[in-house]
Amino acid sequence: MQAAALHQEFTATVRDLATDGRGIVEHPTGQVFFVSGVWPGETARFRVTGFKQRFGFAQLVALLEPAPARVTPPCPHHGVGERDCGGCPWQFMDYRAQCDAKEQRVRKTLARHGIDAHIAALRPAPDILGYRNRAQFKTDGRQLGFVAAGSNRLAPITDCPILTAHNRDTLRTLLGQLPNTAWKPQRKRGWTTLDVDDAMPAGDVVPNQRRPFRQGNSAQNSYMRQWLAERVQRLDPSRTVTELFAGSGNFTEVIAARGFQAIRAVEGVVESVAQLDARALQGTHALCHNLFVEAECRQLQARTANSSVLVLDPPRDGFKHIAALLPKKHGYRDVFYISCDVATFSRDLQVLLEAGLTVRELQPLDLFPHTPHVELLCWLQA
Ligand SMILES: C[S@@+](CC[C@H](N)C(=O)[O-])C[C@H]1O[C@@H](n2cnc3c(N)ncnc32)[C@H](O)[C@@H]1O
Repeated sequence: MQAAALHQEFTATVRDLATDGRGIVEHPTGQVFFVSGVWPGETARFRVTGFKQRFGFAQLVALLEPAPARVTPPCPHHGVGERDCGGCPWQFMDYRAQCDAKEQRVRKTLARHGIDAHIAALRPAPDILGYRNRAQFKTDGRQLGFVAAGSNRLAPITDCPILTAHNRDTLRTLLGQLPNTAWKPQRKRGWTTLDVDDAMPAGDVVPNQRRPFRQGNSAQNSYMRQWLAERVQRLDPSRTVTELFAGSGNFTEVIAARGFQAIRAVEGVVESVAQLDARALQGTHALCHNLFVEAECRQLQARTANSSVLVLDPPRDGFKHIAALLPKKHGYRDVFYISCDVATFSRDLQVLLEAGLTVRELQPLDLFPHTPHVELLCWLQA
């Protein structure tokens, strides 16, 4: 059979979901294509839209056998077109099916890495709309929105039902300020960014100013903090703790509340370190280190060699230099790894297992309904 050609149509059944939430389908030649807006088990007609190395991209032309769990998306801007918003790619599926897909991905990814650990049932989000406590809008000064699903262009919005009520109000206020010449993109930039947060009024929004990290779902963050609090409560407070990727102290506060004598909280963003320092949490010493630089991790290992508790919450890249912190005779007895990326988590987990730790608990949870994102809470012990 001839190789797939651009614009060619073909019929296939979606066999799986990729990590970015797109469906994976096979062309009759066996070539793999990624398609937005479809779900495993669905049979559909597709059109080839492009190629990248061994893979291809296709778009949905007609659904022949839709999944029974399809629903009407709650947001008018949801879609897969060039001007539709790409923020919530799974809004067309029932929430239970979304959670099942996330849980399955955790299981499959760990199995692929040869990791055999008990995985608790995924904890769904209490609210599937109105949960997002921070966001970054894009604007060109004439319209305002997010990045489009089918292109890297601005997708204008008039509302966003996943935002908290406060952030929806902020959005309305900002939309009322259009057109706005002060928001015209600087040279070579496609847009100006506007970071909003439900802890700030619309009047405090500063163009192109990134706000320090904050967990995006307040209800699930409370659960994560409580999960950690209950477990550190069982540890002897005379032990020394090292916390990595501490941000401005979301989890440091929980650790400090246990009354540990010494906590070294490490973070790479200077503003966050300053905020953490300003909180003057009991026993806490804030340190600024770039944890993506191996030499800095080795230095840190020397400074934290007496720690027996490790808490880490890296960004999606995970902690590639985790081995630098765990020499052959390391003293870590309890490790709490909070992860927002199952692939890098599995990679790092292999290092922790090789260092003599075992998984005591692994709890997936959903921070961002309607997206493929999945969060993990893991407790390991020596
Ligand atoms: C997932 S956030 C967690 C923050 C905090 N634990 C919380 O719950 O708010 C990851 C943190 O890693 C920090 N970070 C990113 N790259 C880093 C690097 N190279 N070195 C150190 N910290 C970094 C970010 O600034 C952010 O605060």
